[in-house]
Amino acid sequence: MAAHVNVGRRLVALVLALAVCLSCAVAARVGGPEERQWLKVRRHLKRVNKPPVKSIKSPDGDIIDCVHVAHQPAFDHPLLMNHTIQTRPNFHPEGLYDDNKVALKKKTPSEAQLWHQNGRCPEDTVPIRRTTRADVLRASSVKRYGRKKHKSIPNPLSVEPDLLNENGHQHAIAYVEGDKYYGAKATINVWQPSIQQTNEFSLSQLWILGGSFGEDLNSIEAGWQVSPDLYGDNNTRLFSYWTSDAYQATGCYNLLCSGFIQVNNEIAMGASIYPISNYDGSQYDISILVWKDPTEGNWWMQFGKDYVLGYWPSFLFSYLADSASMIEWGGEVVNSEPDGEHTSTGMGSGHFPEEGYSKASYFRNIQIVDGSNNLRPPTGVGAFTEQSNCYDVQNGNNGEWGQHFYYGGPGRNSNCP
Ligand SMILES: *[C@@H]1O[C@H](CO)[C@@H](O)[C@H](O)[C@H]1NC(C)=O
Ligand SMILES: *[C@@H]1O[C@H](CO)[C@@H](O)[C@H](O)[C@H]1NC(C)=O
Repeated sequence: MAAHVNVGRRLVALVLALAVCLSCAVAARVGGPEERQWLKVRRHLKRVNKPPVKSIKSPDGDIIDCVHVAHQPAFDHPLLMNHTIQTRPNFHPEGLYDDNKVALKKKTPSEAQLWHQNGRCPEDTVPIRRTTRADVLRASSVKRYGRKKHKSIPNPLSVEPDLLNENGHQHAIAYVEGDKYYGAKATINVWQPSIQQTNEFSLSQLWILGGSFGEDLNSIEAGWQVSPDLYGDNNTRLFSYWTSDAYQATGCYNLLCSGFIQVNNEIAMGASIYPISNYDGSQYDISILVWKDPTEGNWWMQFGKDYVLGYWPSFLFSYLADSASMIEWGGEVVNSEPDGEHTSTGMGSGHFPEEGYSKASYFRNIQIVDGSNNLRPPTGVGAFTEQSNCYDVQNGNNGEWGQHFYYGGPGRNSNCP
């Protein structure tokens, strides 16, 4: 009898132990690294992808969600909880339409986006490129998706330029500094440079910078980029970026975090630009203007002649809450080759400035907004590149194109090992 009880107890103990083990195994699986990553990605997607009123499938594979303007990611920001959306800027810079009167009577094709072929977003919504699981999984971590890595701002004033290319970024830019700036504009030639490795990118943009190049640098950026990591393809896309602490904790591309408030229902940040210029063939360009509304202090962005896209509220920034101290225009690539070697990722058209129109990429009619809200050509424009044998820049000035420059290059070549 006693022996029997003993066996029974042992059985109970065994069953208990087994049950405990099973539940640990289940727990281990639920809480395992893969499961945790999956949950993190799901939570992230739920946060950034707002419920759409309508969705449009673009020929390039993107889904464009038309999200009610009041439900966009910006309003996740605690300081924007009670924000009243400004539907339009109080003022445009003076002189904005002077240089457009002759040339641009109607919308140019390069101001269209590929997804327009399959539909449009209704009034009171904003088009947002949907973030996919694959997008997030390409990033080094969920937290890093949509954010730049540190130190990618070219500092032409640095006493020791980054000749060794330690941080892997290379630039060819024109710039002005030493004054107070309230905006910048440029018309940028659009190309599709080739990217050697998926973790590299090539972009052409303007930078509105506030503060010195310290940990609290403020930056607003906009232009076009080819970034396989961010978008999963080699398409040329419209983008914007902002940070108020030199890329550390604040800011992101496009609408991938709360900050930028979009008001336009036609242009999606991060969407493919179409068409693209051809070497020795048709040329296309886009115009970008970023300026500070003199009454509210918000930084607005306009694309082309017709599209006021939205604004960055002034409170996102420290230095830029007042004004910018430097403006830069030009190209940037990431070089992932080690030991001072160079990538063959192209900047601009992938050709050097010397080749000129329809072969090299350009920025034309570069302008700044001054303290009286006037758009005017910058004076004392400098040029900067880390290694001109890899990527170069050449300033010019003439009647029709005003202040302009050609920039770019192929990267790795016989003079740039
Ligand atoms: C928003 O309004 C509510 C109610 O008036 C208030 O309690 C809250 O502090 C406000 N939030 C901000 C960020 O201003
Ligand atoms: C992007 O371009 C690279 C290099 O030219 C190529 O290897 C890759 O397959 C392309 N990716 C896509 C998604 O087309």
